[in-house]
Amino acid sequence: MENTKKKRNGFASSIGFILAAAGSAVGLGNLWSFPYKTSIYGGAAFVLVYILSVIVIGSIVMIGEIYLGKRAMANPVSSYAKANKNLGWLGLFAIIIPFFIICYYSVLGGYTVKYAMNSFAGNAGIIESFTGNVGEVILYTAIFMLLALIVVMAGVKGGIEKASKVLMPALFIILVAMVIYCLCLGTGVKDGLDFYILKISFKALGFKGVLGAMGQAFYSLSLGMGIMVSYGSYTGKEIKVGKSAILICVFDTLVALLAGFAIFPAVYHYKATFGSEVATSGLMLLFSSLPLVFDSLGVMGQIVSFFFFGMVVIAALTSVISLLEVVTQFVIQKFKIHRKKAILYVALICFAISIPVSISLGLLLNGKDSMLICGQDWLDFFDLVTNTVLMPVCAFGSCLAIGWFIDKKFTFNPFKTYESLSEDGFNIGKFGKFFAVMIKYVTPILIAVVEIFGIIDLISPNGTFDKNGLGIVLTAYGLLGVAIAVYFIFLKGKNNGCNADEIDIAVAQTTVKEEFSEE
Ligand code: PFF
Repeated sequence: MENTKKKRNGFASSIGFILAAAGSAVGLGNLWSFPYKTSIYGGAAFVLVYILSVIVIGSIVMIGEIYLGKRAMANPVSSYAKANKNLGWLGLFAIIIPFFIICYYSVLGGYTVKYAMNSFAGNAGIIESFTGNVGEVILYTAIFMLLALIVVMAGVKGGIEKASKVLMPALFIILVAMVIYCLCLGTGVKDGLDFYILKISFKALGFKGVLGAMGQAFYSLSLGMGIMVSYGSYTGKEIKVGKSAILICVFDTLVALLAGFAIFPAVYHYKATFGSEVATSGLMLLFSSLPLVFDSLGVMGQIVSFFFFGMVVIAALTSVISLLEVVTQFVIQKFKIHRKKAILYVALICFAISIPVSISLGLLLNGKDSMLICGQDWLDFFDLVTNTVLMPVCAFGSCLAIGWFIDKKFTFNPFKTYESLSEDGFNIGKFGKFFAVMIKYVTPILIAVVEIFGIIDLISPNGTFDKNGLGIVLTAYGLLGVAIAVYFIFLKGKNNGCNADEIDIAVAQTTVKEEFSEE
C-alpha cells in the first residue's frame, strides 16, 4: 500500500508542481483576454477589481481544488465522489468542460504558432489572410495539438513537469524583456500607462466590468474545470497546498499584469506615432493591433515579434497540456488503458471537433454566416457555454464539496480551521479560519452572482430577450443534465479511478505503473 502511494506522486518536486500548475494558469487568458478586457472595461479600475477577485475568490477555490485532488489521489470524478459520493457528477462535469475547451483553444493555439513563424519571416500582420484560410488554420491547429500531445504522452513527471520547468522560466524571461523594451519606446508610452494603471475610472467599468473581472479570474487561474483537481492528485505529502496555491495565483497575476505593461505602451506608442490607425482596445488587440505595431518597428520589431509570439505559444501550450491531462487521466483510470493510447484517442477526438470550429470561423471571416450555432461561430459558442455558464457552476460545486462535505467536523463548525487535515500537507495555519468562512459562504455567493448575471446578460443582453442567448444557456444546462444522468446511471458506486486507499491494490498498481512508466 505504502509503495503504491509513493508511486502515485506524479510531480517529483514542489517547484515542478508549481510551475506546471502556473503553466496551466498562464495562457491566452493572461496574454490575450486580460489585456483586451482591461481595454474595454476602462483600464485601471478593471485591473483593481481583477486583483481583488483573485484574492477573494480565485485563491480560495485554487486551494480547495488542489486539496480535493490531493486527498483523493485520483481523477476529478473520483476526487469529488470521495468528498461525497453524490457529488461525483461534478467531477464528470469538470472533465466535460476541458474537453470542449481543448477543441477551440487549440485553434487559437494554432494561430499563435502561425504568428510566431510569420514573425520570424518578417511578416507578422497576417490576421485576415490567415484566419480566412481554413486549410491552413487546421494545419496549424494540428501542429499545436501534436506538440501538446508529445508532452502529455511522456507522463506527468517526464513530460509535463520537465516541459514546465523549461518553458515557464523562458516565458517569464521573455515577458520581462518585452516589458522593458515596450516601456522604452518613448512617444505614447505614458498614455498607455495612464490608461492601464495610473488613471482609475469606474465609469467604463460598471457592474458588467466587475462581473467580467471575476469571471476572468476563474478563467485565468484554470479553476472550475478539474485542472487543479487533477494536478493536485499528482502531488505528494511534501507539497504544501496553501503555499503552492498562493504562489500559483501570484505568478499568474504577475504575468497578466506584465502583459499589460508590454501591450498598452506598445499600442499607444503606435497610435501616438501614426495617428489612430491601430485599435487600442478590443478583441483583436493581440492578434491584430500588436502585429501592426511590431511591423512598424523594423528589424528590431521583427525579432521582438518572434519572441513575443513564441512566448504566447508557450503560454497556450502549457494550458492545453493541462486541459488534455484532465481528460486523459480520467480515460486512463476509468478504462485502464495505457497513457499513450488514452492521449491519442482524446487528442484525435478533440482535433476532429476543432475542424468545424476552424471552418465556422473561416466562413464568418469570409462574410458567410452559414455555420453559426445560436448566432455564434463555434469558437464563441463553446467559449460561452463552457466559460460563461458552466465554469461558475463547477467552481460553485467545488466550494460546496470542500466547504460542506469534505470534513464532518468542519461542517459543524464553520470557524474551525483545517488543522485536522494538516498531515495531508494542508496546513494553512492562521489562514484556516479565513479560508473556512470564505469557502463556505463568501466565495460561493460571489460565484453564484457571476453565474446568475452571466446568464441574464446572455438571455437579455440589452434588456431585450435574445433567443440565441437562451439557446446557449439551455445547451449548457443540458450538458450539465447529461453529466448528472451519466454519473448516476453508469458511474456512481463504481471504481472510476485510481485511489490507492479504496480500490484493489493490484488494479491500482497496474494503472499507476502505466501512468508513471518513466519512474
Ligand atoms: N488559464 C489558462 C488561460 O488563462 O488561458 C488556461 C485556460 C483557461 C484554458 C480556461 C482554457 C480555458 F477555457
